[in-house]
Formats: sequence, C-alpha cells, structure tokens
Amino acid sequence: MTAENVVPVITIDGPGGSGKGTITALLAAELNWHLLDSGALYRIVAAQALARDLALDDGPALAALAKSLDIAFNADRVTVDGEDLTLTIRAEPVSVAASNVAAIPAVRAAILDLQRAMQKTPGLVADGRDMGTVVFPGAPLKIYLDASAEVRAERRYIQLKNKGLSANVRALLASIQERDERDKRRAVSPLKPAVDAVLIDSTELSIIEVLDAVHSEAIRRQLVGGA
Ligand code: DC
Repeated sequence: MTAENVVPVITIDGPGGSGKGTITALLAAELNWHLLDSGALYRIVAAQALARDLALDDGPALAALAKSLDIAFNADRVTVDGEDLTLTIRAEPVSVAASNVAAIPAVRAAILDLQRAMQKTPGLVADGRDMGTVVFPGAPLKIYLDASAEVRAERRYIQLKNKGLSANVRALLASIQERDERDKRRAVSPLKPAVDAVLIDSTELSIIEVLDAVHSEAIRRQLVGGA
C-alpha cells in the first residue's frame, strides 16, 4: 500500500490571493495535520536563482539548484541552507520569478519527491496549483478555491502591507492577471481544477465561511471526525 492510500491528503489549489494559504494554515492547525506550501518551494528556487544571477529559463541549472537546497519549514518560518528566507520569498520580484521558474518542467520534476515526502501521519493539507491534478492525484478531498482578480489583488496588498513590504494595488492587479495567464497556459501542470475537485468561489465569502465549507466536506467524506 502506498502512503497515498493510507495518509489522507486535502489538496487546496487555486490562483494567488484566493485565500488558499490562509485556509490551508487554519485547516492544518485545526486538524493538527502537516502543511505543504508548495508555492514557497517555487519561490525559494526563484529567490536563490535571482541571488545567484541564474537565467530564469535555464532548466538544467534551475533543476540542479532546486535539488541542492536544504529547505526547512518550522512553524511559519522557512530556512534555506540555514538562512531565514521567510520574508525574502514574499517580495514581488520573487513572485514574478517564481511564476517563471514554475513553468519549467525540470524544476517541477526536481521538487516532486520533496512534496510527496510531506505526506505523513496523521494527514496533510497541501496548498498549490497542481496538488490535486499532479502531486496528489489520489487525494480523497480536493478543493479548488477561486476569487475575482480584483479581490485577490486587494488581499495581496493587505498581506504585503502587513508584512511591512511596499505594494501598489493597481500594479498588483496587473501582475496577478499576468501570472494567472502564465500559470493557466503553461504546458506542464497548468493551474486548473482536478476533475473531482470541489469548486469554491471565495470572492464574497469570509475566511471562516470558506473554512467551514472545507471542514464540512472533510467530515462528509469521513476524513476527520464530526463536531
Ligand atoms: O502560491 P504562490 O503565489 O506562493 O506560488 C508562487 C508561484 O509558484 C506561482 O506563480 C505559481 C507557482 N506554483 C506552481 O506552479 N505550482 C504550485 N503547486 C504552487 C505554486
């Protein structure tokens, strides 16, 4: 029996700013399950590539870089080769570069095992773009969370401001739309709902309402106990 059959995974896919990160963190904390922020992995590769002046289309070099990194997630901090990159990977230039490196098949292949290794008891909540379609296709609950681009840009603005990073809402909207296009159109693991995903539009929903909807679905599928 593979880990996929034994350890439950809830996948939460969708575009940036749809609320995936928040919902994943709250759900993982509530269930006491592990958390995979797969976007952080692409951001780490991008940040390290920028720091080393690597070309963002050099597949072999980026894949080798991805495989060489010692990545550790501890609570809400991420360290890479011992250096705390928690804030660095959230900066806007890294977001743009991450979307570029994420389109490279060799990079995606290089971090596949790393992602699957996160499937540990008692369960995993995995946040990304291809969690339900590629990384954990057998997951018993797949969520696809979406929201209008305008609302997602506003949420990203508030998120960046709260982290003390500079931001402009109009520039963020343009950047989000451009990234959405790239993430959806790329040939490898494009952003799209799994055929068996539950679709949730969070444009008009509060975080608690989305969390309740996902939690209820997990109870209905007997992945977790009811209240
Ligand atoms: O969710 P995020 O904004 O941290 O993701 C950063 C980038 O990585 C984003 O452009 C999409 C990409 N990504 C991906 O291609 N596949 C994933 N599973 C997660 C993120």
